[in-house]
Amino acid sequence: MDTTLNNILFVDCCARRVSRTRRLARRLLSHLDGDITRLGLYSENIKPADENDIARRDKGDEEITKYARQLAAANEIVIAAPYWDLSFPSALKVWLEQTSVVGVTFAYGENGVPAGLCRAKRVFYVTTAGGRIFDASYGEGYVKALFSMFGINEFYEFSAENLDIYGADEEKIMSEAEERIDGFFAKKRVSVAAALIWDNDRFMICQRPENKKRGLLWEFAGGKREAGETLEETLVRECREELNVTVRPTGVYASLTHEYPDITVDLTLYNAVITEGVPQMLEHNDIKWITRDQIDGFEFCPADKEILERLKNDR
Ligand SMILES: Cc1cc2nc3c(=O)[nH]c(=O)nc-3n(C[C@H](O)[C@H](O)[C@H](O)COP(=O)(O)O)c2cc1C
Repeated sequence: MDTTLNNILFVDCCARRVSRTRRLARRLLSHLDGDITRLGLYSENIKPADENDIARRDKGDEEITKYARQLAAANEIVIAAPYWDLSFPSALKVWLEQTSVVGVTFAYGENGVPAGLCRAKRVFYVTTAGGRIFDASYGEGYVKALFSMFGINEFYEFSAENLDIYGADEEKIMSEAEERIDGFFAKKRVSVAAALIWDNDRFMICQRPENKKRGLLWEFAGGKREAGETLEETLVRECREELNVTVRPTGVYASLTHEYPDITVDLTLYNAVITEGVPQMLEHNDIKWITRDQIDGFEFCPADKEILERLKNDR
């Protein structure tokens, strides 16, 4: 099997031919890259596991475990289930019953604690409701717990509520739900200006505070460009805010783009000199002046690593 292919399992538990839940799920699927396998639970006619089915499982019958094996092999999972009777349609429960198979989707460890065997890291659960979703733990909460047992710990829910209430603007509710889905997948992009400040053969590095993203990693002083600023203005403002110094940029040392999982950073590193003030730690945990030979003794933010390699060799 080609394990590099992104194999997306779309569990379609929408009873209606024209379904608002399926519409939202399709929107979500449009953001995922890969091969989509749609499992239409109403056309599959999956039945509750009876005594005979359980005995077949125990004998390792391949046919009876096909849904479990399909789920275990999927890289991405999208479940579309309308809000019915305070939870979801029974067709979904029957599928979950047929996929909860020891040795396929989960296993019991030596201490009796279940451990997941599924490949996917995350599951998307899409639902729509005529009224309000009362208590999510009745329906999706159970699905979330079961998937966690299968080893799939990230659970993302998207819903549209109050669709059937008298006077409801159905299209508005649906579009807002679609916008929330689009927003989830839109990766933010920021421009960052950073300062390479020299003092003879040493340059300044700053350690991020522990409670921030990439906490305690080292970086150059600087930060995100705000609306209406040039990058040089950003650099001057950020150095004032972070270090209480005035700097003068003297040229671009390097510029690159780094993709973090949640954000794309366009980074421009300026050579800069301090024209006023002594650096203070207004935002950072620590500040150090280091030589090129000391670079390997510090752990830097991933976006800076390429630049530090260049600094090491650039003499
Ligand atoms: C059998 C059935 C049970 C339903 N139960 C509820 C419910 O308990 N609470 C609620 O707010 N809406 C309930 N509804 C309304 C659906 O949640 C709503 O119409 C939903 O948008 C249907 O999704 P669909 O357009 O994908 O079929 C129920 C609808 C049906 C057909």
